[in-house]
Amino acid sequence: MKTKILVTGSLGQIGSELVPTLRESYGADQVVASDIRMMSREQLLRSDGPFDFLDCTNQRQIQDVVQRHEIKTIYHLVALLSAVGESKPQVAWDVNLGSLYRVLEVARVNGCGIFVPSSIGAFGPSTPRDHTPQDTIQRPTTMYGVTKVAGELLSDYYCHRFGVDIRGVRYPGIISYGAPPGGGTTDYAVEIFYEAIRHQQYTCFLKPNTRLDMMYMPDAVKAAIGVMEAAPERLVHRNSFNVTGMNFTPTELAAEITKHIPAFKIDYRVDPVRQAIADSWPMSLDDSAARQEWEWNPRYDLAAMVRDMLENVEKKLAVEEVNNDAY
Ligand SMILES: NC(=O)c1ccc[n+]([C@@H]2O[C@H](COP(=O)([O-])OP(=O)(O)OC[C@H]3O[C@@H](n4cnc5c(N)ncnc54)[C@H](O)[C@@H]3O)[C@@H](O)[C@H]2O)c1
Repeated sequence: MKTKILVTGSLGQIGSELVPTLRESYGADQVVASDIRMMSREQLLRSDGPFDFLDCTNQRQIQDVVQRHEIKTIYHLVALLSAVGESKPQVAWDVNLGSLYRVLEVARVNGCGIFVPSSIGAFGPSTPRDHTPQDTIQRPTTMYGVTKVAGELLSDYYCHRFGVDIRGVRYPGIISYGAPPGGGTTDYAVEIFYEAIRHQQYTCFLKPNTRLDMMYMPDAVKAAIGVMEAAPERLVHRNSFNVTGMNFTPTELAAEITKHIPAFKIDYRVDPVRQAIADSWPMSLDDSAARQEWEWNPRYDLAAMVRDMLENVEKKLAVEEVNNDAY
């Protein structure tokens, strides 16, 4: 991969874990983190490389950062996620597509490669829901999904028309214990761990049998870097590869947690907006194209993910408690 690297939206759920991994591989000073938010005191203390304030709906600002740091690769992570997007569809359009268009333009002018993540949200109710193929019907019914399909098409256009090296994956729901999730339909699969440890009880906003694809964060980071480092001559699809790590229902996730916390109980208060979004998404993705074209291979299944999440959320909550006591 060409360095130097810019990560946009780097303080979000994925960026806050992708940046340290990229810095380990390529060197801290080679990776410029950026976001429209400023870093918290805690993030500042942990950060070991450059950070720029950057609003990706402002093309002049992107151009300035890319030129000043001589950026050659951009991981563009800026987006409003599915549930937030449904509450503010006009803003979701402006942020998701407005930022992508401007980043693509700057990449075209400056010869940068780009990673652009799409989502299972790019599919809709008319998509086959089981083993959803790589190339299939994409008629999403959410603004988030509309921006993701349009983003996939725009990325293809810039790749074919201008030769910009754009690559990407369609992420399922991402589970992690670092930065909190940014308002997606699969956030329950993160919240449940905090509530299981704190209160041995969780009220889920999706129905018990809602099956969705998911992935643990180390695999999400591995997928982003894996597709960017893939040999270009082997890539048939380039953009929007289906990738997945596991799929489960809230009932199955709760049962796995109960193996570690026997007192844990789950109940349900369904949020109709997020349930409708979940019902329009695939239950399992066929990720064979990614496996064939760049050896995609996830490490974590449900049991391994639950074990690791419980261990790390417990440590995180213990540290927070000590810090709270200190004030
Ligand atoms: N997290 C998931 O479960 C998931 C699943 C599928 C796809 N994705 C995709 O992965 C990407 C990253 O997702 P995430 O979960 O890290 O999102 P997130 O919401 O946690 O983070 C997004 C970041 O973008 C920043 N941002 C918002 N508007 C901005 C702007 N105008 N300029 C600069 N920064 C801005 C936010 O401050 C935030 O830090 C997105 O494209 C998302 O659609 C995520």
